[in-house]
Amino acid sequence: MEVVVLDSAAAGARFVADCVGRLLQRDPHAVLGLATGSSPLLVYAELIARCRRGEISFAGATAFLLDEYLGLPMGHPQLYATVIETELSGEVDLRAGAVHGLDGGAADIEAECRRFEAAIASAGGIALQLLGIGRDGHIGFNEPGSSLGSRTRLKTLTARTREDNARFFAAADEVPRHVLTQGLATITEARHLVLVAAGEHKADAVAAAVEGPVSAFCPASVLQLHPHVTVVLDEASAANLRLRDHFKETFAAKPAWQGV
Ligand code: F6R
Repeated sequence: MEVVVLDSAAAGARFVADCVGRLLQRDPHAVLGLATGSSPLLVYAELIARCRRGEISFAGATAFLLDEYLGLPMGHPQLYATVIETELSGEVDLRAGAVHGLDGGAADIEAECRRFEAAIASAGGIALQLLGIGRDGHIGFNEPGSSLGSRTRLKTLTARTREDNARFFAAADEVPRHVLTQGLATITEARHLVLVAAGEHKADAVAAAVEGPVSAFCPASVLQLHPHVTVVLDEASAANLRLRDHFKETFAAKPAWQGV
């Protein structure tokens, strides 16, 4: 696991945009995994700006979303399919139909989850999965207690996550209880996992994920088992890492040929 601590969330966003840009240069048909929530927003803004300047193109790319709410009506602004269209795909040159999400309104939820897993597999798997982290250590919507071997399925949000996400809704009780999410085993099949976090409210979760025991209690700790993970932090979200100074020294002294 590489932990990159930068001065600001904006610097982190530029770093992640560089990772995405290099991937798309190597493979214009790369499959991206996209997170929603506030963590990736600066990354998406940076990618949109680079796309408008002609520095990056998504024309050949495909993307899969991490998760989706259940029970929101079609067109609801907080449906993650809508959010990603607003925050990224509608603003860059991704082809129509290139972004695949989960249908929270599907009549047969288990079949929908199987369909989604099969679609990822038939696209060749995800090359780079962008992740945020919840204050309780969730990635995707794999809340504490999620099996480290889980696949895409229905989950129930914790009260804490519903409170955290209430800021996106008109009223707290509008936050759905149920979601569909890629499982932890699904997520960790992506070839490169890039987790972004910023702010002191993420510091405990980041420390548990990076330095704590691998445990279903902190689902993001499963990243420790993956061979290619980049955790991109600002100073505030890195504040509780015991190895923070070492991570900073390592990154500062990193040989250029190593890449990300
Ligand atoms: C959303 C997702 C979640 C968020 C997490 C953090 O697609 O995957 O795991 O990344 O809830 O949310 P923010 O970024 O809003 O703090």
